[in-house]
Amino acid sequence: MCGIVGYIGREEAAPVLLDGLARLEYRGYDSAGLAVFSQQDGLKVVKAKGRLKVLADMVQGGRTIHGTVGLGHTRWATHGEPSDVNSHPQVSASGRIAVVHNGIIENYVEIKEFLQAKGIKFVSQTDTEVVAQLLEYYYEGDILDAVSKVLSRIQGAYAFGIICADCPDRLIAARKDSPLILGYGEGFHFLASDVTAVIKYTREVCYLEDGEIAVLTADKATVYDAYLQPIEKEKHHVDWEVSAAEKGGYEHFMAKEIMEEPKAFRDTISPRIHNGHVVLDNLNIDGAYLEQIDKIYIIACGSSYHVGVVAKYIMEKTLRRPVEVTLASEFRYCQPLVTQHTLAIVISQSGETIDTLAAMREARRLGARILSIVNVVGSSIARESDDVLYTWAGPEIAVATTKAYSTQLALIYLITLRFAELLGTIEQGEYDKIVAELLLIPTKMEQILNNKEAIQYFASIYFNHDSVFFIGRNIDYAIGLEGSLKLKEISYIHSEAYAAGELKHGTISLIEDGTLVVALASHTALFEKLMSNVVEVKSRGADVIGLTVESKGDEMKKTVDSAILVPDTHPMLVPSLDVIPLQLFAYYVALMRGCDIDKPRNLAKSVTVE
Ligand code: M6R
Repeated sequence: MCGIVGYIGREEAAPVLLDGLARLEYRGYDSAGLAVFSQQDGLKVVKAKGRLKVLADMVQGGRTIHGTVGLGHTRWATHGEPSDVNSHPQVSASGRIAVVHNGIIENYVEIKEFLQAKGIKFVSQTDTEVVAQLLEYYYEGDILDAVSKVLSRIQGAYAFGIICADCPDRLIAARKDSPLILGYGEGFHFLASDVTAVIKYTREVCYLEDGEIAVLTADKATVYDAYLQPIEKEKHHVDWEVSAAEKGGYEHFMAKEIMEEPKAFRDTISPRIHNGHVVLDNLNIDGAYLEQIDKIYIIACGSSYHVGVVAKYIMEKTLRRPVEVTLASEFRYCQPLVTQHTLAIVISQSGETIDTLAAMREARRLGARILSIVNVVGSSIARESDDVLYTWAGPEIAVATTKAYSTQLALIYLITLRFAELLGTIEQGEYDKIVAELLLIPTKMEQILNNKEAIQYFASIYFNHDSVFFIGRNIDYAIGLEGSLKLKEISYIHSEAYAAGELKHGTISLIEDGTLVVALASHTALFEKLMSNVVEVKSRGADVIGLTVESKGDEMKKTVDSAILVPDTHPMLVPSLDVIPLQLFAYYVALMRGCDIDKPRNLAKSVTVE
């Protein structure tokens, strides 16, 4: 989604803004722009459709646009096609007010008509220009007052950065339902969509809440509530290194992040296992609470939802309680059966996915207690939850999630073990066995990664296929969903995941000579059943890649064309090993097809519009 960065200080703003925008590129965008103020040139705006490099070249890396205050933006088009004119910053008719925006103004048509009736001409198709023009309309010499009036008139979601040429000693920031942080430094301040944009310059940040407005000068940052009353904000220290958000010698962030999975998994579980015992410090849920819950709802989108599908299989089996996993985008519209005895587990890497956030708020309104699994510290979902467990994966930059998925799974295992212990639904011996195996998972992941060339070889055989089917049963089906999404989102190959038993109910009609099927058979209890499905698709001409655990390798190799083997582990933990070859396969296939792996077309890292 759109990326915002604003800087006010004593350095030339344009290079700093371009650097910040480069660090926000991962969010996904189709155009970029800058607005920088100087006394000589006034408010200068430069915008360009396409990659940030086009903009950077236009201003020679920032050297041709001067001033120590400005705004930068990468736009992911919603209202109006990607074009120079629809790019942000959007400016008011007089050219003195510039706005960058992430989100959607829902009542922009009505406001646009109101302004047009007053004779105001619009040049873009964007909802954001409406905000710039409305600011101008309300502006009577006090930009903060105008911002406040605009905010009370608009509906929708927004993070704004605003600059007014009449008062270039300040930047204004405001948010509702779209993320925005402030960065504090000696003689400078930032506003930004997320911490990655500012981490090179400062580690002291604060997270704006819905309805808050900030006024930044070089030396001061003042935050106001919606009634323009100043409020104290808690500052947070960001403790990860700048290098965590850089490629570190890898060709793509995705490759780096896959290689980081063993460490991310270890970092997420190790501090939470003490002497063979799962300890979840931040979880204020006890046995009495768990005894009275009627249902666990898991709410998420995309890959996080796929973690939820794995969780449903694992939790229902282990806890003997009903677990429903639901897409966040559907949750609000399906009249969910949530009561005061419902626990909602909300999963999100970014903690800002708008559908997940909205579903979480609805679940809370209906009475659920919210436990979230989040990677980005201080994000909206984390802050609004009753309990939050962080995945300590570090920053994830590639649009295709890998290490965040793995660490979300890690937390699902820990939560399941802890709940099972509290509910008394697990034998001590089984508990000990799973914990011991859990601690071995990072090493087993390393074994798979050390042999990644084998997956690269399979990718070289199959990368030209146009259509792929992933089949599996039980948690193998859940992993298939993720393998399929990974492949389609970065390689643009049409790909579907099916519960293997469903093949005969329709899908098998699509299998013909040369169709590629990825058969997942690591859930050994259902190995034979799955292999029967493999025989069915093979006899209709499919090329089959099989994925199973080493102990079943010889058996599988008799039937499939290519076999990928992962180390044996406890059945509950298999997803964490199976997913790695699937991520690698997607990566290498996309590489061989020449795709833009870290920034796949039309996708954004953090989906902050519905
Ligand atoms: O930040 P979230 O975990 O809430 O994001 C959810 C999905 O948008 C995300 O998992 C998406 O499906 C990824 N592109 C998958 O790689």
